[in-house]
Amino acid sequence: MTTISPYWTPVEFPAAVSKNAQTIVDDSGNNQKSQAASVNLIGADAAQALKANLNIKPRKIDQFREKEIEDIKPLILGVLGARHSATRQHSMGVAMYTREFCKSLGLPTEKIKKIEMGALCHDIGKISLPDDFFNQKNLTPTVKCVYKSHPVQSYNILSRVAPLSKNIALIAKCHHEKYDGTGYPEGLKGNQIPIGARIVAVADAFDSMTRKKYPKQKVKTFEEAIKVIRENRSGQWDPALTEPFIRVITADSNQLYKKVLFST
Ligand SMILES: [Fe+2]
Repeated sequence: MTTISPYWTPVEFPAAVSKNAQTIVDDSGNNQKSQAASVNLIGADAAQALKANLNIKPRKIDQFREKEIEDIKPLILGVLGARHSATRQHSMGVAMYTREFCKSLGLPTEKIKKIEMGALCHDIGKISLPDDFFNQKNLTPTVKCVYKSHPVQSYNILSRVAPLSKNIALIAKCHHEKYDGTGYPEGLKGNQIPIGARIVAVADAFDSMTRKKYPKQKVKTFEEAIKVIRENRSGQWDPALTEPFIRVITADSNQLYKKVLFST
């Protein structure tokens, strides 16, 4: 079934085509040959108009998708903010770190946009978590178990949103996988983890360590968080990404870190 995008632009046909369309309206309806001829003529004129590019500039599918993705961002942030404002701020921060990090890696613009969107949406599944998790009270084994389901919950939500590609949903699903294979939900290892998720995982960890998201959480200083990522003792992150990430956030006297703190 053909779906018409809400961003479809009405097309103005040239006068010749409109005239032939009128011929069909005036026809008694009994002369099918005449109608068919008129329809063919319209088709020919429309094709000619397309060639001449008369007000008909079909937009590329990617442009529709890009616009649709932009429109989804406020919805994602609105939903996150309604559930837990610190998670909304965290998601914005992770997206900002991710964007600059991807740029520094020289990734193509289209890929950067997708990975950034994955970063913005990665924790959307947390909206399904109980209040006890956000308040950090009664953290029973059940609550902890439900917490660990949030990447899959994110995937389940995002993979149903048509303009978002499967890759974006996969970034969310895999952002708690660890490079050494000890992460979740699937225990993927090394390059089995999508590159977008490996990138977001470093940005996510840095923002999580330096941002107060939950009561009783001990926030790390900038230097302490850098140290954790640099040492990467747990093998949590792709070792090829940790130093490049540190270079990005420490550049220009920690400019990006200050910008994220100021704007989220
Ligand atoms: Fe997460």
